[in-house]
Amino acid sequence: MLQSGEKLCQVYDFLNTDYVYAGVILHDMCKILEMDSDEYGVVSDYTMEGKLLGHIIQGIKEIDSEGEKIGIVREKSVILQHMVLSHHYEPEFGSPKKPMTPEAELLHFLDIIDARMFDFEHSLEAIEPGQFTDKVWLLDNRNLYKLKGDS
Ligand SMILES: [Fe+2]
Repeated sequence: MLQSGEKLCQVYDFLNTDYVYAGVILHDMCKILEMDSDEYGVVSDYTMEGKLLGHIIQGIKEIDSEGEKIGIVREKSVILQHMVLSHHYEPEFGSPKKPMTPEAELLHFLDIIDARMFDFEHSLEAIEPGQFTDKVWLLDNRNLYKLKGDS
């Protein structure tokens, strides 16, 4: 996501790169508080706080309290909180607000691109060139096609 963000900030050069990079780094940081995992990082369940609050709310709480501790300018803390708050875009996916800055809008799409490309790559690994996958639930039940690579 940082590499993609860096390239897109070159295209859209009015963007504040500090916020884009900070948003990429911070947006899912509280997944480690949202989920219980063993020493290998294998997740067994969500934590109590993860179930009741989720990584978005946990994330903005962290930014708020850590920002207070180190005394960053209030606007910077609120903008970073807004980026975390809005990165899922839709209320039904956990974001109570849609992005209101271009940096937050870009963060959402960087997250979507990253997740989709991971799902495409992972799904296509299991089949041979010239074949279609079964319906992939994570990608809207699409049958994906693997290029033959010889054209
Ligand atoms: Fe997230």
